[in-house]
Amino acid sequence: MIDYKKIKKSLKKALKAIEQMEMLDILMRAQAAGHLPPNTFQLFSQEFAKVSQSLNQATHSATLPSSSAAPSENALPPMSYQEWLKKLADRQSTSPSVAPAPSPLSTAGADEALRQSEQRLRTIIDSTPLGIVITNEDGIIEYANQAYCDIYGYTAQEMIGKPFTIVVPPEKKDFWMDLHRKYLDGYKEIRGEWEVRHKSGRPIYILADAARIIGTDGKRKKVTFVSDITEMIKLKEEARQSELQLLQAEKMSSLGQMVAGLAHEMNTPLGFVRNNLELLESKHLEIRELLNAYDKLRTQIMYGTPNDVAMMLAQIDQLSQKVKNRVYEQAPSLYRNSIEGIDRIQDLILNLKNFSRLDEASFKPTNVNESIESTLKIANHLFKGGIQVIKEFSPLPDIMAYPAQLNQVFLNLITNAVQAVDERNGRIVIRTMQQGDNVVIKIADNGKGIPPEHLKRIFEPFFTTKDVGQGTGLGLSIAYRIIEKHKGKIDVQSQVGKGTEFTIQLPINPMQTTAKSTSSPFVESPFLE
Ligand SMILES: Nc1ncnc2c1ncn2[C@@H]1O[C@H](COP(=O)(O)OP(=O)(O)OP(=O)(O)O)[C@@H](O)[C@H]1O
Ligand SMILES: [Mg+2]
Repeated sequence: MIDYKKIKKSLKKALKAIEQMEMLDILMRAQAAGHLPPNTFQLFSQEFAKVSQSLNQATHSATLPSSSAAPSENALPPMSYQEWLKKLADRQSTSPSVAPAPSPLSTAGADEALRQSEQRLRTIIDSTPLGIVITNEDGIIEYANQAYCDIYGYTAQEMIGKPFTIVVPPEKKDFWMDLHRKYLDGYKEIRGEWEVRHKSGRPIYILADAARIIGTDGKRKKVTFVSDITEMIKLKEEARQSELQLLQAEKMSSLGQMVAGLAHEMNTPLGFVRNNLELLESKHLEIRELLNAYDKLRTQIMYGTPNDVAMMLAQIDQLSQKVKNRVYEQAPSLYRNSIEGIDRIQDLILNLKNFSRLDEASFKPTNVNESIESTLKIANHLFKGGIQVIKEFSPLPDIMAYPAQLNQVFLNLITNAVQAVDERNGRIVIRTMQQGDNVVIKIADNGKGIPPEHLKRIFEPFFTTKDVGQGTGLGLSIAYRIIEKHKGKIDVQSQVGKGTEFTIQLPINPMQTTAKSTSSPFVESPFLE
């Protein structure tokens, strides 16, 4: 995770250090010009070294990802003024014979001190990884340090004398010029993250802040401090993308479970309703034949001979014998049964609606007992063979929750329990109770249990012991996140060969509760002693 707060804090520290250095520079100049007592020189130089070190640390820390080593390990060590001058002399090839610290008392040393003070500042500014640029009132770049040039891919010669808008997207030039003016006039800030342009045209992202100064020409200038955060923004975006993918997988997994379960549940009533309709259809054809025969008989009675009538009656007897078979007797119950089947399907659709609460994905008063009931209906098809579900519900107050999400948790715990128990004698006990400000739900099974080495990992996304197609390993990680979001807690106790019990605690009002869950269930298990 990118620690933007830390970066901003470090940048603020860096800015403060630069301000202090400017102040020290002024004091050193004053001292060199003889306006201050000579013994202050030592004091200022010590102070200068300290401030330069804190600038180093702050800029280091601002440009390192938070996972890197602590800035103090990487930043330059404190440097005495003598060492500083020596380093300066090493760097300045144009003045290889920079003297060691001049005597603060010598007048010849005053000019030298002044020159060195300037050199020192320039070296610091040029060696800092923080980009620094000075722009005049017209937005023309007057100075850009090495880091600033490096961030944008230009040389200093290519930048100096050009409008600072060479680094902004063409369509944003007016916006930036306007911001620049308003900033100098004192009623807009530059502070923030911005998208700008590298020389190559590719977008880069910077964290920027600025200061207003009056230049030696007496005119207003803007000093902008810039840190390249492109890499961090990329990491942030990657993290966001993988989070989205996980969410998508979660959605698909719970949706898949629900759809599969529902398809199964609907298949049975649909099957018998269809059978019944086929039987009733064939019966209908026979009844139609019988009615046709009656029509004919009617004609015979009116216009035919008694012999014809007798023949017709015999035929009708035969037909009505055929009609009055088992299906005819069963017809009312076939109708009743089909209506019930259709009611079951309708009920399932209603449960699905209740379960997914597609129409009310909001945070609302929720009755946990009702949520579990509606989940059990959805999970009904799972309870095959002799699996017994025992409900021990206590009356519960409504809790503030996302009901559809809680249903997802319950469905996964119930599904896991069903998959863990023996079909012949499986027992799943679901208990609910109120404990103080919490509602507690316990889902226990007498299944195979979870070995300790798995117990540590069951909340990890994609951890599963099930065969491909049986489990994705997302169920408990989703459950953990949902419970965490509700400021609740999920615990598990398990014994191999005996069974498993999951306990969920949910605050009645999560808004008044501080999070109870461990922020990362994956590092170590909170459940094992
Ligand atoms: N009640 C239980 N009894 C025994 N083992 C369990 C129980 N609940 C969870 N587990 C173990 O924890 C693992 C992770 O469970 P989880 O619900 O996260 O994924 P899954 O059930 O394997 O897959 P999915 O839930 O995505 O279908 C399971 O594979 C299983 O080994
Ligand atoms: Mg599961």
